[in-house]
Amino acid sequence: MPRLENKIALITGAGGGFGRAMAEEFARQGAHVFICDRDEASADETAQAIANEGGAAAPVRADVRDKGDVASLLSRVEKDFGRLDVLVNNAGITQREDFRHISDEHWQEILDVNLTAAMRLSRDALGLLRVSGRSSITNISSIMARVHVRQLSAYSTTKAALAGMSRAMAVEYAAFNVRVNYLCPGYAETAMTDRILRNEAVRKGLIDRTPLGRFASPGDIAKAALFLASDEAAFITGEGLTIDGGMSVSL
Ligand SMILES: NC(=O)c1ccc[n+]([C@@H]2O[C@H](COP(=O)([O-])OP(=O)(O)OC[C@H]3O[C@@H](n4cnc5c(N)ncnc54)[C@H](O)[C@@H]3O)[C@@H](O)[C@H]2O)c1
Repeated sequence: MPRLENKIALITGAGGGFGRAMAEEFARQGAHVFICDRDEASADETAQAIANEGGAAAPVRADVRDKGDVASLLSRVEKDFGRLDVLVNNAGITQREDFRHISDEHWQEILDVNLTAAMRLSRDALGLLRVSGRSSITNISSIMARVHVRQLSAYSTTKAALAGMSRAMAVEYAAFNVRVNYLCPGYAETAMTDRILRNEAVRKGLIDRTPLGRFASPGDIAKAALFLASDEAAFITGEGLTIDGGMSVSL
């Protein structure tokens, strides 16, 4: 039996990378998936790929930083289904700079996308998540919530904050039967890491430091997100799951 049969799911940043892999996996498992992305063409592509496999998906162009876009997105879910079973806050950005050179603008931008948007969507979606009676939120954090990589201070800060926010929400939202967890992926090959992983020496160094000897695939992240969204994880809340092939526990 499909593991998300008849569930209504909303994934941000689902036009590419992990978000697209999660959307495809959720749809394969019977969910109707709202594909949110600020890039309309890529949201359409994900929805089309799902439709081609016989799944159900609706692309919605929305910038998660924009209060109006988020309100319209939730109105659309309410109008179409009147409830939400699975929310994945996945949209994220990164930029590299030394901590001592971070500009106020970059700091604010990365907080707005990676953290504040997840707070706003999780707060404003509660009404729809409560209707479900058995719903979940998964925030996409990173191993950089736990370990630091040079020049990613602002990024690491948002990912650590997402972990803390997930725990806070888990405690409060339990009263509404909404579970809240977070994933901490290691390095994967997506548009986000394209530039850095084009460097052969960097690639080799990272793979050598990973006990399982490869990068994560978007599919690895999708499988973990599927588990947390499914009823198999019915008693798991406030938890973070690391998916990094052992990198962060190996010296
Ligand atoms: N790739 C990795 O190695 C890695 C590792 C750990 C965690 N992560 C996290 O996983 C998540 C997904 O990363 P990815 O590698 O798939 O990235 P990606 O760049 O491949 O995809 C991100 C998607 O989010 C969308 N997006 C960006 N800003 C948005 C906004 N303001 N509103 C709506 N959509 C927006 C982009 O258009 C894009 O489709 C991010 O939160 C990232 O921090 C990635």
